[in-house]
Amino acid sequence: MEKIFTFTAQNLDDTDFLALEFAKAFENKGAFVCLYGDIGAGKTAFTKLVAKHLDVKEKVTSPSFVIINEYLSGKLPVYHFDLYRLENEGVKTIVDELTEYSRPGVITFVEWAEFSDFELPFDRVEIRIEYIDENKRKFDFYAEGENYINNLEGMKH
Ligand SMILES: Nc1ncnc2c1ncn2[C@@H]1O[C@H](COP(=O)(O)OP(=O)(O)O)[C@@H](O)[C@H]1O
Ligand SMILES: [Mg+2]
Repeated sequence: MEKIFTFTAQNLDDTDFLALEFAKAFENKGAFVCLYGDIGAGKTAFTKLVAKHLDVKEKVTSPSFVIINEYLSGKLPVYHFDLYRLENEGVKTIVDELTEYSRPGVITFVEWAEFSDFELPFDRVEIRIEYIDENKRKFDFYAEGENYINNLEGMKH
């Protein structure tokens, strides 16, 4: 994983701006995105905001209990996983399925991908979110794979 940039959001509006830039960077080709951070960091909040900027019409909710939600009303299909309830053994059983969701032309967000003690076998973006205070968050962006690295580089300016 190559670290590309850090963005500090002072508030949810800043996160909304970041989500807009992210949506613009990936709306053509899609992306496979793993989100890391403690409960309340903003993994679901960021996903919701990106979905909004991709014109997803449905209400985006946390997929904690259903493992995956899909939204097909936007500029490209948005898939949203939450692996928290699966933990390590369960994640191993769905890694093949995850691989399918890394295909071009769809955008897939995965919360709690750390519930896997293996490397995911494909290129991806990693976003590590740190809670600073009630409204402030630090976002660190990483990528594996030339296309993802280039797209994130394009967001830096
Ligand atoms: N700058 C910010 N960026 C993201 N979320 C923020 C920010 N400031 C406050 N929040 C709030 O923090 C909470 C994050 O919750 P959530 O996205 O469900 O966390 P997670 O999915 O990481 O457990 C939301 O209620 C969101 O409105
Ligand atoms: Mg969440």
